[in-house]
Formats: sequence, structure tokens, C-alpha cells
Amino acid sequence: MVGAVNEYLLDIQGLDVSFKGQQGIAHALRGVDLTLRPGEIHALVGESGSGKTVTSMCILGLLAMPPGRINHGHILFLNRDLVQLDESERRRIRGRDIGMVFQEPGKYLNPAFKIGDQISESLTVHLGLERKSANARARELLDLVGLTDTPRILKSYPHELSGGMKQRAMIAMAIACRPALLIADEPTTALDVTLQLQILELLVRLKNRLTMGILFISHDLAVVKEIADRISVIYAGKIIESANKKKLFENPLHPYTILLLLSIPDAAKRGRRLKAIPGSVPDAERIPAGCSFHPRCPLAENECRRIIPPDVNYEDSHRAACLQIGKKWITS
Ligand SMILES: Nc1ncnc2c1ncn2[C@@H]1O[C@H](COP(=O)(O)OP(=O)(O)OP(=O)(O)O)[C@@H](O)[C@H]1O
Ligand SMILES: [Mg+2]
Repeated sequence: MVGAVNEYLLDIQGLDVSFKGQQGIAHALRGVDLTLRPGEIHALVGESGSGKTVTSMCILGLLAMPPGRINHGHILFLNRDLVQLDESERRRIRGRDIGMVFQEPGKYLNPAFKIGDQISESLTVHLGLERKSANARARELLDLVGLTDTPRILKSYPHELSGGMKQRAMIAMAIACRPALLIADEPTTALDVTLQLQILELLVRLKNRLTMGILFISHDLAVVKEIADRISVIYAGKIIESANKKKLFENPLHPYTILLLLSIPDAAKRGRRLKAIPGSVPDAERIPAGCSFHPRCPLAENECRRIIPPDVNYEDSHRAACLQIGKKWITS
């Protein structure tokens, strides 16, 4: 597959990552497969510690090595394997061909520089624009992300902006060079519900306008329902189910996905107690044998404690890895 023309913008194959810790080896990713088409929003969903950010750091070439290590796998982006690139090539791609948006704009925006200068700098470095056209483009970008009073914002330092404005300014920076891929790691988690919806709408609008692919990372299936075309569910460093959004919500196959869906608060369930999934994601240094979900799974049988379930492709690219699929169980 490597080297062949690929219909995907991003094609992650068998990504296996570990960290060397003081106690032992933390196996953070255990063969992640994930594909993203141009112009598609693919959501990567899972509980805390499941491997979402490690996946995004690998794509961005920001995984600290050591302590991190990519043991196996490929990250094909526009038919180049990002795993094989050297640091200077990675830096060139990051910010130009791959944009990034994080939960905390404060960590990404430099507090010592004005917003306008930060955006212009990116355009000057990556696209070689002259200062004057970079400034004009920065103004257009702020308009594009729905910020008004752009002359003032261009001259503001990050701390002078509200949370929502900072988030929009960070998105403006992320899309400044018209990247083919945007990685958004929990971009709305710190925002209140109204702002959250506005930012999600903005991302969809920008995606359509710029035909970017977006890898949207979240622990929240209710948020993902608003925005995703395709969803992959990650558990203990492995994708356990992947399907288009409609399929995943209407016909979830993996017990973990079913339990995650049952834990979404929605209007119909208001007043009823939410079903939290008992237990938590295993420590990456102590992943259970067999199916890593078996200690929390209501359907687990003896074989689940021994056998790692293969990833099976059901109809229409609906994939799931569970030995008990189809088994009846009671959910209420
Ligand atoms: N630098 C590191 N050293 C050791 N272990 C790490 C390191 N970074 C991540 N890990 C481990 O890798 C696993 C996946 O972490 P990751 O940050 O990707 O989770 P996440 O899904 O993004 O969680 P969250 O929803 O809390 O952001 C965790 O078990 C974590 O402890
Ligand atoms: Mg994370």
C-alpha cells in the first residue's frame, strides 16, 4: 500500500506507540487504523486516556521521542509517510498542510505577540507572503471565522480576548495557509454550550468552503453527533468500532459503543439517571489480555479474556472488533 496512489487524505495503518516510563512500558496505541477522505469530518471518540491525543501528536510530528516511540505503522498523508519524515520536513508540513486546533487556545497562541502578528508570521514563514499582503490576509481570516471589529483584534494580545474570540483566532491561525487537513483536539470542551455550537458550525462552514478534511477528537458523542461524517471509537489504544455516523448511532455493534451511546444525555432521557460505564480505561502499562474491554463488558465470555478480537469489516465499511457481536443483552 505504501507508495501507491491513495484515495484518502490521511491513511493511518497499524500505528503502534509506547512510552518508556519509570515503572515499565505504557502501550498507548496498539495498532490504530484510521482513514480520512478529503472534505470529510472523521471523529475519534473515546474516554480519557484512550489514546486520542497521542494519535494526533503522531500525525503532527509532535510526539516527544523519547519517552515516546513509534514501534510500527504508517501515517500516509497525501501519499507521504509522515513517520519517515525528518524534523525539518515535519515542521514544513505542520501549520501549512496540516492545521491544528486545541482545547486551550492559551497554550497555542503566544501571549507575547499580537494576534495579527502571529497570523501574519505564519503566512510569511509558510507561504512566503510579503508583510503587507500577510496583514491583509490576516484581516480576511478573522472575518472568515466570524470575528467582528477585526482592526482591534489584530492589535490585541491573546489575554485581551474572551474565550470564544480566542478560540476563533486560533482557528483563523490554523486555517491561515489553507491546510488540507485540520486536527481539532477537543476544540470546544472548555466552552459553554452556546459557544460550543457556534464553533462547531464554524468548523463545518470552513470545511465546506476550504474542502479540508478534519480529524475531530472528542470524548463526547453528543458533540460528535453534531459534526461528524464518520466516527471511530478508540479504547485502550485500539479502534474498536468505526462507521459512518448514521450507522454508528442507529446500529452500534460493539458493547462499548452501545454503552457510550446510552450515556449521552438527551432530551428523551431527561429525568432518568445516566448510565455511566462502570470502571475506567485501563492504564496503558497494564492492558488486560484478550479483549482490553472485557473487565467492563457485560457480554464477556471466557474466550474474551484470551483472544484479541479481530477487526471485522461488516457492510459499508462498518468495522468492529468484538467476539460477541449479535449476542442479545438487556440494556435497561
Ligand atoms: N508522555 C507520556 N508518557 C507516558 N505515558 C503517556 C504519555 N503521554 C500519554 N501517555 C499515555 O498514553 C495513553 C493515552 O493518552 P492520551 O493523552 O492520548 O489520551 P486521550 O485519549 O487524549 O485522553 P484525554 O481525553 O484525557 O485527553 C494514556 O494511558 C497516557 O497515560
Ligand atoms: Mg487528549
